[in-house]
Amino acid sequence: MGLLFPLALCALATSYSAAFPAQQTTKNLFPFLSRGCNDSDVLSFAGFALEDINKDRKDGYILSLNRVSDVREQRQDDEPGGSLFYLTLDVLETSSHVLSRKSWKDCEGWPFYATVYGQCKALFYINKPRRVLYTVAYNCTLRPVSRRSIHRMCPDCPSPSSLDGSDPKVLEAVTETLAKYNRQHTSKQYSLVEVTRASSQWVNGPSNFVEYLIKEIPQPCTKSMDSTCALQSPDPVPVGLCEGSLTEIKADKIVVVNCDFFEPQDAAAEGEKAAKLPKVQDPGNKEAEAKKGPKGTVQKLPDLDDERPEQSQDPSPVEEFPVHLDLTTDPEGQALDVSFLFIGPLEEKLLVLPFPSKEQRSAECPGPARDANHLVLPP
Ligand SMILES: *[C@@H]1O[C@H](CO)[C@@H](O)[C@H](O)[C@H]1NC(C)=O
Ligand SMILES: *[C@@H]1O[C@H](CO)[C@@H](O)[C@H](O)[C@H]1NC(C)=O
Repeated sequence: MGLLFPLALCALATSYSAAFPAQQTTKNLFPFLSRGCNDSDVLSFAGFALEDINKDRKDGYILSLNRVSDVREQRQDDEPGGSLFYLTLDVLETSSHVLSRKSWKDCEGWPFYATVYGQCKALFYINKPRRVLYTVAYNCTLRPVSRRSIHRMCPDCPSPSSLDGSDPKVLEAVTETLAKYNRQHTSKQYSLVEVTRASSQWVNGPSNFVEYLIKEIPQPCTKSMDSTCALQSPDPVPVGLCEGSLTEIKADKIVVVNCDFFEPQDAAAEGEKAAKLPKVQDPGNKEAEAKKGPKGTVQKLPDLDDERPEQSQDPSPVEEFPVHLDLTTDPEGQALDVSFLFIGPLEEKLLVLPFPSKEQRSAECPGPARDANHLVLPP
């Protein structure tokens, strides 16, 4: 009697695969496994993917994980132990610049009135037996928290200023604070690369707060210097981030400035590598991979209030966080060469499917949010 049940299953499986060719059953009908957004391994893959995204970027602030919004797993039939995860992550901007190369777990968020939040989609490949963790591609979209809602809750909070150079107060705050920094630290001199944040507030007078990247001004060559001074070519790489404020109270100007310098990148990268699961990778191929450029983009859109005026009767819905990660539109999927992730002459391929749509979210999703305020959670 005990044998009957497995036999019946077996027969069912046979007739099933006869009715549907094997490829169809595995790839088209059930291509994705549903996973819980609070599963500990899903959370750890989401964390790794976000580290990779932050590391891949050259500008903007480090993103931290607020919650896993959706996850799908696609086992790779041709690669035992290999799985591709389709992650949708709700993220928050932190106050650490990506050039600081910090882990997002060590970064602090902005105060609530200055929050920037959004969503990322990422394709994350894991192969535990072969010790590979790899972010294939990503795309993110961010927006600042609704100015209108913040103003209702906190009318006196600082409000964001324009960064496009049209606000003379922003430029004045940068100029005055950087001049003060250079006066106080005369061994090296710095100039502005880019203003990364600005806001203003009225206390007893106008206050302007700014954050900006700086670079070193190369030392001019003098006769007493040897020939190495010529080699100190103007290095366009930002070396640090300054935070400054300029407050005017009657005729007085109060200037406050503080600059943080980034760790030299190589040292930071080495530390990171040691902390992570060691990857078996061919270093030569890895270099070639690095040359391919960024694996995604982070786009920053304006406040939703600007796109959805309060009095407007316009019913046309705005897509709040448009994020597209379409490596393929072919429902059969597309093969992606990932041989560079492995040592050895074998060609290794991943099957990538179109990103699953929002409408069919996994059952146990979204997961719990670290910041559950509805103002900072994408729908
Ligand atoms: C990522 O988003 C950008 C727009 O921000 C888009 O042009 C690009 O095609 C997207 N990448 C993928 C792989 O879909
Ligand atoms: C998520 O998982 C943690 C630990 O596994 C558990 O303590 C927590 O209650 C879970 N949260 C939800 C909302 O399921």
